[in-house]
Amino acid sequence: MEKYVIHGGKPLHGEVEISGAKNAAVAIIPAAIMVRGVCRLENLPQISDTDTLLHILTYMGARVNAINRTTVEVDCTDVQMDCLPEEMWSLTRKIRASYYLVGAMLGRFGRACSTMPGGCNFGVRPIDQHIKGLTALGADMDVSGGFIRAEAGGGRLRGNTVYLDKVSVGATINIMIAAATAEGRTVIENVAREPHIVDLANFLNSMGADVRGAGTNVIKIRGVRQLHGGTYALIPDQIEAGTYMAAVAAVGGAVRVSNVIPKHLECISSKLREMNVEVEEGDDYVLVRRAEPLRAADIKTMPYPGFPTDMHPQMTAVLCCAPGRSVMTEGVWSSGRFKYVGELRKMGADIQVEEQSAFVQGGRRLTGAVVRACDLRAGAAVVIAGLAAEGTTVVEDINYIERGYQNLVGKFRALGADICCVDEPDLPGERTLGWIAG
Ligand code: EPZ
Repeated sequence: MEKYVIHGGKPLHGEVEISGAKNAAVAIIPAAIMVRGVCRLENLPQISDTDTLLHILTYMGARVNAINRTTVEVDCTDVQMDCLPEEMWSLTRKIRASYYLVGAMLGRFGRACSTMPGGCNFGVRPIDQHIKGLTALGADMDVSGGFIRAEAGGGRLRGNTVYLDKVSVGATINIMIAAATAEGRTVIENVAREPHIVDLANFLNSMGADVRGAGTNVIKIRGVRQLHGGTYALIPDQIEAGTYMAAVAAVGGAVRVSNVIPKHLECISSKLREMNVEVEEGDDYVLVRRAEPLRAADIKTMPYPGFPTDMHPQMTAVLCCAPGRSVMTEGVWSSGRFKYVGELRKMGADIQVEEQSAFVQGGRRLTGAVVRACDLRAGAAVVIAGLAAEGTTVVEDINYIERGYQNLVGKFRALGADICCVDEPDLPGERTLGWIAG
């Protein structure tokens, strides 16, 4: 099994280039099904979730042509598949974004069938708002037996007004995709405003759609008969950027985080400044410096433009390095978001979880341990903790991390971190670090 081995305590210096946004890519690739023509996608992140989705589109009959490491041309002109067969179910059950395939197939063909999605396990992750929205567009929805089946009455969706009872990134994206070619006008109210929502709207519009208001809490769509090909460059990943910023805060040093949109990082930059980290903004980079001791802080995650929930575990690792008492309160997900706490405790962290808050007593140096990535961002948190800890940390189940971070080991090594990826058989009983030190 592949593992990361980290020897902690080395400050980070240099420059890191941020890749394309994972949560934009996993929405835009399924949306390409709606397009009769070649979609040239640039600044795609090289992560397993994008590989999985491109594999599914290829199976559906799309022509997928890799131009270079981060540019792919996808032509779905000849795709006719509106129901994903059993060969695809292991993939669609693995990733959260597979439910966007339903919105895209429904919008293109008037019918769709796929499995329920997978993704990070935060406990219950309902899709009732997706169902509400697609039903409002005239689809008969059947969610049973682990499958999602949808059929548009009369073969084509019809525009409507939808109010989301809960701000949902996924439901906003799914309804936006399906409504792009629905007959008439769709108004979606109480929508998510994340940067990747705006990126999807910009992608759809560059392919001939008419989507307005993305980034506000109301999106208005005038359905068009069909979408044409074009070129689209994805935004950089604000959570990847935030993860490297958090690492500098935890370990110390000075790093230029390049290829970012500073506005997307405002909440993270502001919180780090509150914690005595210097953050200087350029046009397409931020300079992060941490030389002085960190200050404790309280953080509450909220939908954008609030503090992003996808930075919760990483920032708790930073709070563990700040002398004093801090509180991390989760405002989006249930208690399942706190699974990373048990792994940080193995490294000596003093964290108590009560309801939706983690109470951190920081300042005591963390110590290396054998830990696991419980989910994507929990994995990033234990990497940050290992970089800051004294001694050696082994991170297992790194497949979760590699779903969302392109070349994490290479990027951290270029910043001076002592981290590597090893492929070690699971030695029964050998849970100490001894075999690593040897
Ligand atoms: C997306 O998940 C992201 N995943 C998550 O990032 C992110 O944490 C989340 O948005 C919030 O920003 C992808 O984009 C692939 P939601 P999603 O629908 O769409 C409730 C990562 O680390 N809800 O915005 O599943 C839900 O239970 C991943 O990159 C309903 O009640 O999140 C949650 O409490 C992890 N009914 C809240 O809304 C619904 O129909 C927000 O969920 C849908 C959601």
